[in-house]
Amino acid sequence: MDNQEQLAELVSKAIADFSAATLPAELEDAKAKYLGKDGSLTALLKGLGRLQPDERKTVGAQINRAKETVELALVTRREALRDAQLEAQLTAEALDVTLPGRGRMRGGLHPVSMSLERIEALFRSIGFEVADGPEIETDWHNFTALNTPDNHPARSMHDTFYLHDTDGKIQQDVLLRTHTSPVQIRAMLAHVERYKHLPALPELRILCPGRVYRVDSDATHSPMFHQAEGLWVGEHVSFADLKGVVTDFLHNFFESDDLKVRFRPSFFPFTEPSAEIDVAFMSGALEGRWLEIAGCGMMHPNVLRCGGFDPEKYTGFAFGMGPDRLTMLRYGVNDLRLFFESDLRFLKQFH
Ligand code: PHE
Repeated sequence: MDNQEQLAELVSKAIADFSAATLPAELEDAKAKYLGKDGSLTALLKGLGRLQPDERKTVGAQINRAKETVELALVTRREALRDAQLEAQLTAEALDVTLPGRGRMRGGLHPVSMSLERIEALFRSIGFEVADGPEIETDWHNFTALNTPDNHPARSMHDTFYLHDTDGKIQQDVLLRTHTSPVQIRAMLAHVERYKHLPALPELRILCPGRVYRVDSDATHSPMFHQAEGLWVGEHVSFADLKGVVTDFLHNFFESDDLKVRFRPSFFPFTEPSAEIDVAFMSGALEGRWLEIAGCGMMHPNVLRCGGFDPEKYTGFAFGMGPDRLTMLRYGVNDLRLFFESDLRFLKQFH
């Protein structure tokens, strides 16, 4: 074989090696075999020095032509591999720009929030103001000012969440409010402060919706639940007013006259007399069953006094109802826990 033939064979082996490489690293290995420091073409070029000058010229030109051919093949193959890689990536990350958009998800109010808004609106329409109070309360607002004796079972740690300081020591006087009733005290004190310059206090009518907490958890109890506290204090407020306001509210809330309301004697430390409010629907799945939805009563003189009102001059009623329960009844939901699981399949049904 002469020089020419040897070179031609080398070139075709290089081209075959390049096209056999399917990864860039393999291609670079193949390149080293021919064009690298110890590559065969490089070795041939180095060997030129041993030739006669006139022979060196022709052989040198032949080797250089061969080298150019190999280099061109290398660059071509490199580009082909790069194109193939890009192509593969584009297919893998394919985006169908012709697909229709997903649209924007629209949020909605939680069913209990819908009830709270409804309760607020109905009470606003008869002159109640919506009030607010802290969920972390003092023992005084939550119990003492509400005429609850020191040894009352509701104060026990089995029923009430107490807070502890950073050393883990329980702070007996700070707790998560167990009902919205402490807002009665806060609203009365604020009202008296605002109108103390007047010879007589204007009527106080407030509704306070909010979260409350108790150590309790089963199908009908959750450690956090909602209450809506109502309060009306004035010079001539009677139990008849309480009955009228609550009964009227319930008919409006359920958008039905087809229900009965009953006031059943009960006990709360902060009201006297006290009652539980029950409703019974005259049709539907729960037809004829009495369901408890609120506690209420005439405000105890000690409570009025703690709020800065003279119990000789003013009377008042208060009630605390369960918006979670009202929502279950309004929509026919049978497990309270569904409200707090954040399952969209459940929540979407209300919109
Ligand atoms: N706070 C009472 C409870 O949580 C309800 C209530 C409120 C009763 C106001 C009477 C007056 O059970």
